[in-house]
Amino acid sequence: MIYSKITGTGSYLPEKILSNLDLEKMFETTDEWITTRTGIKERHIVSAHQYTSDLAVEASKQAIEASGIDSNKIDLIIVATTTPDKIFPSTACIVQTKLGLSLCPAFDIQAVCSGFVYALSVADKFIKTGSAKCVLVIGADTMSRITDYSDRSNAILWGDGGGAVILEASDQPGILSTHIHADGSYEKLLHVPSGVSHQKGKSTIEMQGNQVFKIAVNTLDSIVDETLEMNQLDKSDIDWLVPHQANIRILEATAKKLNMSMDRVIVTIDRHGNTSAASIPLALDTAIREHKIKRGETLLMEAFGGGFTWGSALIKY
Ligand code: UT7
Repeated sequence: MIYSKITGTGSYLPEKILSNLDLEKMFETTDEWITTRTGIKERHIVSAHQYTSDLAVEASKQAIEASGIDSNKIDLIIVATTTPDKIFPSTACIVQTKLGLSLCPAFDIQAVCSGFVYALSVADKFIKTGSAKCVLVIGADTMSRITDYSDRSNAILWGDGGGAVILEASDQPGILSTHIHADGSYEKLLHVPSGVSHQKGKSTIEMQGNQVFKIAVNTLDSIVDETLEMNQLDKSDIDWLVPHQANIRILEATAKKLNMSMDRVIVTIDRHGNTSAASIPLALDTAIREHKIKRGETLLMEAFGGGFTWGSALIKY
């Protein structure tokens, strides 16, 4: 049996911090409202000349170093992002060149906040089928570039960042299962109306936050069941929940579903905000570097986002 094993992780946050107190100066809101409704205290924001690929590159350097591999071994690059540097080439191709990696397939995946789980799922299939042996999987987003800072219920959420993992083929258990889903009929509840071929409406995020919230909680409930059932595991078998960081109240609802105390949930939303595809690898790397997550432990990753898309990954770390 071939498994995909996470052999290194890395992450990167831009220097500039946008705190709730900064937001209080930009529109009518309070630190108290943002903290109680979302759990966010601050988020990082890119500078004018910093791009998604820059965040991806810095996170990747750390992941490569942590894994101890020769970077020439990387035979596939996948970047999950909704905010690519350019329409084309893909951010993955830009990252390949910036890192000076050898020629290998490189492509982007767009599943908004579920992007990293989608990318992990695809990378796992490449490894399981023997098509790749060492994959650089990145989640990176510059959500500030598509945030409307005059829409207070939306602007408070988003942050920028990048996270990366090195996945290597192994005979030791690694990714145990991945589960990905989508339902495009909810498009209008969370979207950027204007795009490339469709050039009508705003080019910033529009979200019916409270409706998204309710559907997210119910959907994450069912993906947890699906993942546990497929692996014939009990809730108590999960050591750590590594969730997409959308809203502390969504994290608390999933923890409750798992009968898990919040100290087994990796929480970075207070420091990172919602960084979309970057949020899970950022949370994972932060927890590993803080010596919370240890080798041999069982991790459940889950995410829900625009599309709607949602998914999970069960991992023996
Ligand atoms: O990651 C991808 C998936 N996305 C999500 O999972 C996001 C899910 N949704 C959420 O996290 C929450 O819906 C938000 C944090 C976006 C909004 O929180 P909410 O509790 O759903 O607020 P709301 O939009 O229902 O608004 C409640 C009240 C309104 O006032 P009234 O009409 O009750 O008087 C808003 O005008 O809160 C008001 N409000 C604010 N007040 C102070 C909305 N935004 C703010 C604000 N500061 N920033």
